[in-house]
Amino acid sequence: MAAPLTTGAAPSPEQGVRRVATALLFLAAVALPCLVLYHAVAPAGVLVPPAAMLPWMQAAGPPHDDDEVNLESDSEDARLERVLRAAAMANDTVILTTLNSAWSEPGSVVDVFLESFRIGEHTRELLDHLVIVSLDATAHRRCKQIHTHCLAVATEGVDFSGQKNFMSDGYLRMMWRRIDFLRLVLEKGFSFIFTDTDIVWFRSPLLHLYAEGDFQIACDHFTGDPDDLGNMPNGGFTYVRANSETVEFYKYWYAARERYPGRHDQDVLNMIKRDPYLEEIGVSIRFLSTEFFGGLCEPSRNLSTVCTMHANCCVGLRRKINDLNVMLHDWRRFMSLRDKDKHSVSWSVPQNCSLKKVE
Ligand SMILES: *[C@@H]1O[C@H](CO)[C@@H](O)[C@H](O)[C@H]1NC(C)=O
Ligand SMILES: *[C@@H]1O[C@H](CO)[C@@H](O)[C@H](O)[C@H]1NC(C)=O
Ligand SMILES: *[C@@H]1O[C@H](CO)[C@@H](O)[C@H](O)[C@H]1NC(C)=O
Repeated sequence: MAAPLTTGAAPSPEQGVRRVATALLFLAAVALPCLVLYHAVAPAGVLVPPAAMLPWMQAAGPPHDDDEVNLESDSEDARLERVLRAAAMANDTVILTTLNSAWSEPGSVVDVFLESFRIGEHTRELLDHLVIVSLDATAHRRCKQIHTHCLAVATEGVDFSGQKNFMSDGYLRMMWRRIDFLRLVLEKGFSFIFTDTDIVWFRSPLLHLYAEGDFQIACDHFTGDPDDLGNMPNGGFTYVRANSETVEFYKYWYAARERYPGRHDQDVLNMIKRDPYLEEIGVSIRFLSTEFFGGLCEPSRNLSTVCTMHANCCVGLRRKINDLNVMLHDWRRFMSLRDKDKHSVSWSVPQNCSLKKVE
């Protein structure tokens, strides 16, 4: 199979070109005849796993009729680049979310998430730039039914498919997996807006991201000062520019999990945000206002300005789905009114999310 790939240092552009060239040559010389042979002898729907599989990323489920047919010749690395390239805006920016099977079921979180883009103001076209990163085979299959840009990312021996209870071991591994994955996206040269799937999008956030700031993050509580490290960040929504500073920052953040065992990425971010090493790296961190990037912890008060609303401060999947649907309902009502009446609409959330008893 092709030369072994590493996930460590970022490849230079020359290396990237060489890698693509090698892959193409390989495809022409070996993989195509193999594929023909393979299709002749293998029963339909049976997938022979690619030999040089990266340990942290693997194919999910049987191949479909589309791009995965050439899986044999297509390294996971090349697939990542191809999906990102296809979804990127002209400035190499993508929108990313991660999905597991519990959140991918019909009527579950992902359906509400996608619906918000369709009913938001000028958000539908942003779907062209959204990559849904599936953490298990079921989520990946569902993604392919409902969305264009799907990527399967899994960790060998780890099942991310069930509903993850907050702070369980599986939940933590899933959260840290995401940080490691996002570092790789930055290394590939793609800037991104990462959004949790339990965030509804009603307006494009692009205009409200700061012109300055390598790493921008939404907040559970916003102090009013974008540069105040006392803000309480929420890792469910970030905008990160691809540069050497942010790559180094993500490596440092990911490595810090070992110093703080049992903590999730957001806690650890709070613990390292004042580390002198971050200044040494030179990464600038800025906090996004809840006025535009609101949530149940601190709702955006004005539906005339809100971009996104996060079902944070909410325990329990069914409650989350309930309140996310209430947000869609509030938004529809707001949009249906004449301008002079719009001010009368305010959020009717939290509803079930405000209940204390855990499901
Ligand atoms: C990238 O390009 C899009 C589309 O042209 C633009 O709206 C957006 O502001 C740019 N993104 C950033 C974060 O600069
Ligand atoms: C909400 O935002 C709109 C548009 O910026 C503004 O005209 C209006 O006064 C705001 N309403 C409140 C209650 O702050
Ligand atoms: C939400 O709360 C209402 C009122 O307590 C309850 O009737 C309903 O079953 C709850 N729905 C969900 C999805 O938890």
